Amino acid sequence: MSSMTESQADRTLDRDELIAETARRRTFAIISHPDAGKTTLTEKLLLYSGAIDLAGAVRTRTNQRHATSDWMAMERERGISITSTVLAVDYSGCRINLLDTPGHQDFSEDTYRTLMAVDSAVMVIDAAKGIEAQTRKLFEVCRMRGVPILTFINKLDQPGREPLELLDEIERVLDIRTVPMNWPIGSGSDFQGVYDLTARQVLRFERTMHGAHRAPVQISTLDDLGALVSSSAARQLRDDISLLEGAGAAFDHATFLDGALTPVFFGSALNNFGVEPFLQALVSLAPPPGPRSSNRGLIDPIEEPFSGFVFKIQANMDPLHRDRTAFIRICSGRFAKDMQVQNPRLGRTIRLTRPSRVFARERETVAEAFPGDVIGVTNPGVFAIGDTLCVGGSLQYAAIPRFAPERFAILQNRNLAKYKQFQKGLAQLAEEGVVQMLYDPDAMRREPILAAVGDLQFDVVQARMATEYTVETHIEMLSYTAARWPTCGLDVLAQTRLPASVRQLRDAADQPVLLFSSEWELAYVERERPQLRLGGPPI
Ligand code: G4P
Repeated sequence: MSSMTESQADRTLDRDELIAETARRRTFAIISHPDAGKTTLTEKLLLYSGAIDLAGAVRTRTNQRHATSDWMAMERERGISITSTVLAVDYSGCRINLLDTPGHQDFSEDTYRTLMAVDSAVMVIDAAKGIEAQTRKLFEVCRMRGVPILTFINKLDQPGREPLELLDEIERVLDIRTVPMNWPIGSGSDFQGVYDLTARQVLRFERTMHGAHRAPVQISTLDDLGALVSSSAARQLRDDISLLEGAGAAFDHATFLDGALTPVFFGSALNNFGVEPFLQALVSLAPPPGPRSSNRGLIDPIEEPFSGFVFKIQANMDPLHRDRTAFIRICSGRFAKDMQVQNPRLGRTIRLTRPSRVFARERETVAEAFPGDVIGVTNPGVFAIGDTLCVGGSLQYAAIPRFAPERFAILQNRNLAKYKQFQKGLAQLAEEGVVQMLYDPDAMRREPILAAVGDLQFDVVQARMATEYTVETHIEMLSYTAARWPTCGLDVLAQTRLPASVRQLRDAADQPVLLFSSEWELAYVERERPQLRLGGPPI
């Protein structure tokens, strides 16, 4: 047998590294209703991974960022976070990529798109509130993609609902099987730890001042329970365990990976109770990057050369530079700085210079990256949301779905001398997907009608127009509640009589779109005018 040449040996090493690096990636997002504890849990992830020494730094960092970015003043005023970040930390031998989903009430399509770029999700639920509206919406998006979900029931240190009742609610409302992986010991002010139902271990935590440091933990078996926790908590736990063992719900990894079962963990992010076991479970249960569907079938992360897709574009993250960043999720192969990639949509080759990622607190340049990683690259206008980037061939990953807008408004430019800036701002914000722009083809002036999933997107447009493009605008809300795209063709549309209150517009790609004033009106037209073949926004 001939010995391997040096370059063959290099290739084998490269491949081994690609396989190992891919296998240790965990790319996920947290889905939750505002205030359930997403920020706190994120912070504790940084604390336990050693990326920060003292919890509290995330908020400080957020405040600093606010101070350097003027349009984010709006976020500070409202105490919300609109911009998404990607955090990369090493924990227990794994590289964890946490994609932050904006947590405000009126969330945008941005959140949905982020969920297209993850391999798993963590659902955080407030033990006192159970499943809330936004959790449900985000859960549905994960389900659409079959994303596996781990559940963390938070705030057990406060008076909350019964654990069994919460499990029942998750099963009923979200229609997913639950398997508790641990069980709370005591609750509210008597919350003392968790019992690991798999390892059959008692984890007794101690509170620290404001949860700024790791919570000291004592680990023992059920035999020592009496010596560790209060007698009432011990009695309750023994009763609960015999009940659970009787129910016999077993965790099945394959069913979890299919998105049909969620392992449930109890804890308190603020006090660091149950946080570490949860993170350990996350790295051992959540999947590494797997094959993704494309126009060429399933693409294996380790079999193909570099490929990825753009899931987010954001302009002016740094007001000093006023640049645009495209965030790319790597799906296959190794990424190297200065790499030349194809954008099949434009038929162009692009060099990816100055790629960056946020590592713990700092933005740093990346020399190389692997499947599951997210990198940010400067976008001189050559990337759009959903673009596939690849080396060789004309690969196209499954499109990022768009969501039918439910809120509509007219945006007026208050100062005609600023016409150019107004147009430029609109074009860039539309490119980022902050809002969709619709036009009335018969109107004298092409004043855009903005369409969004939630009202907050309009506020963002106005604030950014003012600070980034120095254009004062006026928003006039319209009373439409739904938009649908007729797929019947222009001839059939022209021949179809519609209620006078239905408005006909065109989208940015000049496709006809109809606005409806109520669900009732939409249902009427769908029923009475089936020839229109109404659908959601074209991809
Ligand atoms: P979010 O990102 O999901 O919106 O939630 P966030 O982590 O900001 O938490 C919302 C509030 O809930 C915060 O209180 C936070 O301290 C509190 N919290 C999070 N986890 C726990 C927990 O395990 N137990 C208890 N008791 N509270 C928890 P806040 O008063 O709004 O903010 P702050 O003053 O703590 O900054």
